[in-house]
Amino acid sequence: MENFDFYAPTKILFGRGKSASLMGEMKPFGKRVLMVYGGGSIRKNGIYDTVKGLLAENGFEVRELSGVTPNPRIEKVREGVAAVREWGAQMILAVGGGSTVDCSKVIAAGSVYEGDPWELVKNPSLIQGALPVFVVLTMSATGSEMNPTAVITNPETKEKQGVHSSFLFPRASALDPSCLYTLPPIQTASGVADTMSHVFEEYFKATEDTYVQDKLCEGLLKTCIKWGPVALTEPENYSARANLMWAATMALNGLCACGKAGKWSCHAMAHQLGAWYDVTHGAALAVITPAWMRYILSEDTVERFADYAVNVWGFSRDQDAFTLASMGIDATEQFFMDCGLPTHLSELGVGEEHFDEMARAAVPYANLDTMAYVPLKAQDVAAIYRSCL
Ligand code: NZQ
Ligand code: ZN
Repeated sequence: MENFDFYAPTKILFGRGKSASLMGEMKPFGKRVLMVYGGGSIRKNGIYDTVKGLLAENGFEVRELSGVTPNPRIEKVREGVAAVREWGAQMILAVGGGSTVDCSKVIAAGSVYEGDPWELVKNPSLIQGALPVFVVLTMSATGSEMNPTAVITNPETKEKQGVHSSFLFPRASALDPSCLYTLPPIQTASGVADTMSHVFEEYFKATEDTYVQDKLCEGLLKTCIKWGPVALTEPENYSARANLMWAATMALNGLCACGKAGKWSCHAMAHQLGAWYDVTHGAALAVITPAWMRYILSEDTVERFADYAVNVWGFSRDQDAFTLASMGIDATEQFFMDCGLPTHLSELGVGEEHFDEMARAAVPYANLDTMAYVPLKAQDVAAIYRSCL
């Protein structure tokens, strides 16, 4: 295990009705709240009315910024920064999924920065402060509610870029599993795939002697496999939503990454699909992940994949390691299919025309050629994309 620092300062308020407790967390920071949300799901499911009612009861003044899209754009961040400055908002309340939370984080940092917020996304060392961000989470997937990351897309440059800074941690996040009841099945499934991918990115790393992290990873994966299908068939099953919601938060709040060296692989490839084709993040990962697993399976990695097959999927050890590894990978792909997720890029409207450009951009994005679990050059990434067609 490598040395590490673990810092997770976000207060989590978990359970039914917990948005109400968020108000008390916000009060010390002032009165003027910019409430940020997406394309209207919160108006349909009643979360908008609940949150607006709580804000009014607690004496907050509110301005709204709506229309944050999935794969949130830098243009929306700029609009938010202008709204904060024009009115003097003292804090941001994000009500939505990862896209809304990410957009809010960069608005918060951009509001105390003189230049264009895209500069912060490209160079996080420029982030030297941010307004306080609070979250009412309505989609569980990204872990953004408890981490220092935001992912913003710039359609002009065809970049989808992650930015990390300790100033981007939300102060407090309300996680009410019943807020997830109205998620469309494809979003529930994409959230499960994204959660699993965050775990895979840490589980499949070369660092040795990380038993505790690996068992945590296996537990989170088993949680997704057990409760994902339940949430899909019974959208209002509280136990399913609660277990998935907390699993998603823990998958990317830094716990699984402690003491592990190296960088992620599948996200670098999936972000290119987001930048070029605006595809749903979790769906892109569901396609890429099994293909990546098959591509990197070798004498060097087979034992790890065999462990995965046994410890996560419950296959019996009494078969050779390569057979077991393939069974684990096939089970992963079948699970995504059973959840209604795509398994081919063509299902996402992606053709092969930009694979080479996308592959060339994916490699430096995460130093895939030097720091990935199995180093990948641009031709490897392009081959993985092709195998997904
Ligand atoms: O926009 P609205 O109308 O709210 O609809 C949303 C959106 O269409 C809908 N939705 C959310 N909650 C709902 C709901 N519909 C009905 N009922 C509810 N309760 O779901 C759709 C997807 O929402 P979005 O916020 O885009 O989903 P997600 O949470 O998966 O966020 C994806 C974004 O986060 C980034 C992804 O790349 C992508 O841009 N990520 C952020 C990370 C981070 N900050 O750490 C890490 C991840 O790896 C990821 O890259
Ligand atoms: Zn992700």
